Amino acid sequence: MEHSGLGLAITGCGSATPAVSVDNTQLSQIVETSDDWIASRTGIRHRRLAPPDSSLAELAAEAAKGAISMAGITAMDVDLILLATSTPDDLFGTACRVQAEIGASRAVAFDLTAACSGFVFGMVTAAQYIRTGVYQNVLLIGADILSRWVDWTDRRTCVLFGDGAGAVVMQANEADRLLAFELRSDGMLNKCLNLSYNSQPKPLLEDVAIAQGTFNPITMNGQDVYRFAVKRVPEVIEKALFRANLTVEQVDWLLLHQANQRILDAVATRLHIPSHKVISNLAQHGNTSAASIPLALDEAVRHGQVKPGDMIAASGFGAGLTWGAALFQWGRFD
Ligand code: ACO
Repeated sequence: MEHSGLGLAITGCGSATPAVSVDNTQLSQIVETSDDWIASRTGIRHRRLAPPDSSLAELAAEAAKGAISMAGITAMDVDLILLATSTPDDLFGTACRVQAEIGASRAVAFDLTAACSGFVFGMVTAAQYIRTGVYQNVLLIGADILSRWVDWTDRRTCVLFGDGAGAVVMQANEADRLLAFELRSDGMLNKCLNLSYNSQPKPLLEDVAIAQGTFNPITMNGQDVYRFAVKRVPEVIEKALFRANLTVEQVDWLLLHQANQRILDAVATRLHIPSHKVISNLAQHGNTSAASIPLALDEAVRHGQVKPGDMIAASGFGAGLTWGAALFQWGRFD
């Protein structure tokens, strides 16, 4: 059925994680750490790690298929594929590989990079295309394989991350289920969290030099990121609630980027949201970057926690620095 482009609904979700799970005790064979240190500081106990012969495109495609199937459409119905990732198989983009993998040959596809905020930024981007009536069915995927980009000798960072993918289908709908959003960026804080290119000058011709090099592993100032998240995330959620004319009591689920249980707890406390409304899968997956919100959503939907019509306050935050909130009602309902 064609819609007028007035609104959108989030009608399907899916996720995929690698089969291999590594626990904190196993990590203590690689770096000087312990299950107690990691679990008490972060809430993380396991993370899934992508094997050498796997690709981001495969992981993203598996999550996408689950979302398409739940939405009750086919890959040929998809108009647009947005792949939020910081770890593409190819710097020119991986969304087109996903398009080929799932057989969505009608769809236009491109990557979107906003680190751990990528899913929320992608949701708002997708909404603009649907609200203007340009596209009816958008597939939004958040996927990252950060195990390929961390320094496995740095215990301050390598224990935090895991690999995964999550996806949603967003469809044109008479009523608009994305009730409000707020996106923010602050490049002045860029140095807190980087996966930066490190190059050396290379003479090419007389008077002409270029630079060539490789990417450095992830660097992070953990305490700065913690302080930033705990202050800024409640602000954008409150702003989105204000825009939607809703109160915090009307939120059924707080769905934050799964960075660290302490951040989840501190944000919930600041917003006066009780812990039973806080979605967390950190113990099983760690921080999966752009995948973390849709992966947690998919698990909560498939376990029957999140039900159609539930009000979700989602917030992503991370490198850039970038952060944002999206307030939406899950699923197809009257
Ligand atoms: N195992 C054992 N000891 C460790 C480990 C580890 N894995 N990592 C650090 N330590 C040690 C440090 O070396 C330091 O020892 P020292 O005092 O002898 O120098 C001590 O523990 C304290 O280190 P801090 O870095 O001060 O540890 P902190 O209490 O701040 O906890 C953490 C670190 C968990 C990263 C915290 O800063 C945090 O939660 N930050 C939020 C950032 C975050 O979650 N980032 C995720 C990625 S970014 C994103 O997704 C937005």
